[in-house]
Amino acid sequence: PVLYVLNGPNLNLLGVREPDIYGHETMADVQALCEVAAGDTRVVFRQSNHEGQLVDWIHEARNEACALVINPAAFTHTSVALLDALKTLSVPVVECHLSNPAAREDFRRHSYVSLVATGVISGFGPHSYELAVTAALRLARERAV
Ligand code: DQA
Repeated sequence: PVLYVLNGPNLNLLGVREPDIYGHETMADVQALCEVAAGDTRVVFRQSNHEGQLVDWIHEARNEACALVINPAAFTHTSVALLDALKTLSVPVVECHLSNPAAREDFRRHSYVSLVATGVISGFGPHSYELAVTAALRLARERAV
């Protein structure tokens, strides 16, 4: 079983981009945190700035993943395509954000992805990913028994 961790647009610039909001740690640092949190479970960790690429990876996860963690970034608030792709999954989906979008601009208060997420973790910086990975794998294990 593999755990998918997918990341949306501009997260490749993590560490450089708006560090007052997103902190100084990079995507590589976040990937390392996820791998430690996942223990023996293999992690497929990816980032894309392109909506269609993320849709394709969600389709790929249909055959492979025991659970999926996704930080859709700005697509959280805009993408019916990601919502529809996630609807095709039967495994747990954990939505993850570094910041707490509910405490920011009004347009960040709505998430399409939350409509299908098993749960949402936001506001803890890179630690959000550790919590999301732990939660996703626990849900996956519960389903397996
Ligand atoms: C984000 C929050 C989104 O509103 C924003 O567009 C991002 C990052 C987060 O991780 O806090 O790009 O998903």
